[in-house]
Amino acid sequence: MKKIKIFDTTLRDGEQSPGCSMSLDEKVRFAKQLEKLNVDIIEAGFAASSEKDLKAIQEISKEIEKPIITSLARCNKDDIDKAYESLKFAKKKRIHVFIATSKIHMKDKLHMTKEEVLIKVRSMVRYAKSLCDDIEFSLEDATRTEKEFMVKVITTAIESGANVINIPDTVGYITPNEYRNIIDYIKNNVPNIDNIELSTHCHNDLGLAVANTLAGMEQGITQIECTVNGIGERAGNAALEEIVMALIVKSDYYKAKTDINIKEIINSSKILVDITGSFVQRNKPVVGDNAFRHEAGIHQHGVIQNKETYEIIDSSSLGLQDDNIIIGIHSGKHAIIEKMKKMNIDFDMKNIDDYVEIIKKYLEQNKRISDETFKQIIVNPKIKKLSSNSL
Ligand code: KIV
Ligand code: ZN
Repeated sequence: MKKIKIFDTTLRDGEQSPGCSMSLDEKVRFAKQLEKLNVDIIEAGFAASSEKDLKAIQEISKEIEKPIITSLARCNKDDIDKAYESLKFAKKKRIHVFIATSKIHMKDKLHMTKEEVLIKVRSMVRYAKSLCDDIEFSLEDATRTEKEFMVKVITTAIESGANVINIPDTVGYITPNEYRNIIDYIKNNVPNIDNIELSTHCHNDLGLAVANTLAGMEQGITQIECTVNGIGERAGNAALEEIVMALIVKSDYYKAKTDINIKEIINSSKILVDITGSFVQRNKPVVGDNAFRHEAGIHQHGVIQNKETYEIIDSSSLGLQDDNIIIGIHSGKHAIIEKMKKMNIDFDMKNIDDYVEIIKKYLEQNKRISDETFKQIIVNPKIKKLSSNSL
């Protein structure tokens, strides 16, 4: 099993997305949770973006023992100095330097030529390396960058001291096969790539962030950048929980593992929602409310007999209790019997069809039924009577 490093950027890429900003204390609280989750690297912020971010990175650095703390910087001296300053208390530190390399970004955003970009990469990666041993270099908008130019930029960054090269799909534009081809091209054409850690950073504009990340990993990438709940710019980043669980469920296929403490996944998701107020959709894989719930009669019948009929993730491995049978309008009698048994309700089997009918009538009007109401319906003598009169 090869080890995949998890680089969490919830506190940087995630935090900079609309509705997800955090106070200094909240950032520290979440960083501590990331340490419990056992991520390998925490991107704690972008020091040059504000004094508050710089301070937050310093406070996080004081509190965190095990993961590497990284601080983002554009390719200029001032940003790199601030990143370095923000990391002064970190036990393990990394400066993450980036510059855009696609035609559109160089022309319309940076107003720089290719040659100017290459000069910046050489001088600024060298400068960052003079301050810090561990240097990650990212080619912003890499997936829309001309391949030959990408090779030149990466070669230059490595010559100048970068030990991690990140290939971001900044605008969520790539597909898994195309991403695989890019990684292959880099591995076959960058002469000094062998001892370099390659990294993915995929955005989710087409809903492909996790698929692209896994495709990159299949091609030999060993560091994955991701966020809890998939928060991040626009449609977000690749979701940490989805990637980690994919590697577990499909371990025979990927033959790769992370060191994530999966019992902390649900907690991390909930703490993030608590801090940001940014809710997770019910049907979100792994952490959504419905991820392990069944309402349809056929599914409930299957799950009651063997969970694996409709569940590929062992929910108890995430620390979840088995209360996954939801009594709803689509439920059948198997689920209702199971629920009565679980709740230790004394019931009469010959009335089962009536219970089902009454509960369904209730649900037609109310959509959901609480355990309390469920119990009342079954045990209430009046209802029992109505039930035996076949309402
Ligand atoms: O999406 C992106 O390209 C980024 C870089 C700064 C790594 O977030
Ligand atoms: Zn990003």
